[in-house]
Amino acid sequence: MIIKIEAIVREDKMEDVIEALNAIEVNGITVSQVMGHGVQKGYAELVRGQEVIINLIPKIKFEIVVSSEEWEKKTIEAIRAAAKTDEVGDGKIFSYELKSALRIRTGDTGYDALNP
Ligand SMILES: Nc1ncnc2c1ncn2[C@@H]1O[C@H](COP(=O)(O)OP(=O)(O)OP(=O)(O)O)[C@@H](O)[C@H]1O
Ligand SMILES: [Mg+2]
Repeated sequence: MIIKIEAIVREDKMEDVIEALNAIEVNGITVSQVMGHGVQKGYAELVRGQEVIINLIPKIKFEIVVSSEEWEKKTIEAIRAAAKTDEVGDGKIFSYELKSALRIRTGDTGYDALNP
């Protein structure tokens, strides 16, 4: 089973999360700067007649694709331990079954695309 994990964490937890993922030796990561809000959502304000939420907060998004549920669990636990402060805004971790993976260089697919 190919599983994708997406984790949204605090900006200042990025290094800790990278270290934690390196420590368990995941085979690849993608990191992006994103903006978002959770339950304590932004306040609405009228901008040129449109009501918009103006306090999106910069966060870091990690994307990791793994090749088993065991690795899914291990990866999620590593991210959570590294990203947790116990304050609101610590972020979220999502995971879902992925349809396919392909290594461009070799044409490997599925499990083979994700492992050396
Ligand atoms: N339901 C969601 N869908 C997509 N992204 C989300 C969702 N909830 C949170 N996020 C992302 O995670 C970031 C951090 O969310 P946050 O930790 O504030 O969630 P929360 O549910 O409000 O939890 P807490 O009460 O601990 O703050 C958001 O800025 C957003 O980018
Ligand atoms: Mg929140």
